Amino acid sequence: MTRHLLSAADLDRHDVEDILASAASMHDLQRREVKKVPTLRGRTIINFFFEDSTRTRSSFEIAGKWMSADTINLSAKGSSTSKGESLRDTAMTVDAMAVDALVIRHHASGACHQVAQWVRASVINAGDGTHEHPTQALLDAYTLRTRLHDLEGRHVVIVGDLTHSRVFRSNAILLRTLGAKVTVVAPPTLMPSGIDTWSAAEGFATSWDLDAVLFGAEPVDAVMTLRVQRERMTGGYFPTAREYTVCYGLTRDRLARLVARNPDVLVMHPGPMNRGLEIAADAADAPQSVVLDQVSAGVAVRMAVLYHLLAGDDTEGAAR
Ligand code: NCD
Repeated sequence: MTRHLLSAADLDRHDVEDILASAASMHDLQRREVKKVPTLRGRTIINFFFEDSTRTRSSFEIAGKWMSADTINLSAKGSSTSKGESLRDTAMTVDAMAVDALVIRHHASGACHQVAQWVRASVINAGDGTHEHPTQALLDAYTLRTRLHDLEGRHVVIVGDLTHSRVFRSNAILLRTLGAKVTVVAPPTLMPSGIDTWSAAEGFATSWDLDAVLFGAEPVDAVMTLRVQRERMTGGYFPTAREYTVCYGLTRDRLARLVARNPDVLVMHPGPMNRGLEIAADAADAPQSVVLDQVSAGVAVRMAVLYHLLAGDDTEGAAR
């Protein structure tokens, strides 16, 4: 594995299998009363979040702490970034303290790639702009594998605000690495430009018609709904919220029709959810929903990633 985790494309199938195997041991650890292991004792991890986060930030912090690393959280507001310091100066300043890993979330796509060129520490991309979020894709793959076992030939539908979604970009890459069939669905205005070339190269399908995909010839194993990212929108991407829900929401009616075809269909959402917009409360809380399994897997997968980047390739030793 490389020194950094910047993109899902950094991982070949072997790397993904290694990380998911370690994550399974970490998940066992998560069920123990005392969760601490000495694996990363003496290592220092800085979680640098220039954008808001609940799940990603706290799970990285918990992951580091359970592995006995010293973890420190920084945010743009409480750091010198708010005094006008450049990203390069901030990154090099932190790196000069001899930290081992920098977990970075930033509003600019490509920020983590940039930082990786300036520092000696391992850089982990915890979401850069609308670009990538590789640990989210890993935890989604872990969740899917727990239920579906092998993903080879399984059909995963990703629907929502694809233009602004780093979760979609990392998932499209990683799910294909694991052999899943992927169809991505969005209204034309939220379909990224240039997607035709990318989907042809990566081997996934695209559609504007959710019902045609969900109830078409190809059975669906999982539906991943993505948040409508209003904070990244400058113009009107769809006429009304109601219209979006009718055409692209995972409504109670759509879920009922899906369950009638496949009672074991999985409902996923990376969070945070806009209940009633992209996903109905009935779907978010349905027995088919694995939304909280995704959150739980997030800690185990991030422990596994930290372990592989900082402690080596001994998959067996991960939870020792
Ligand atoms: C996502 C993110 O921030 O990229 N959430 C997450 O990490 N769980 C998706 C989103 O914000 O909609």
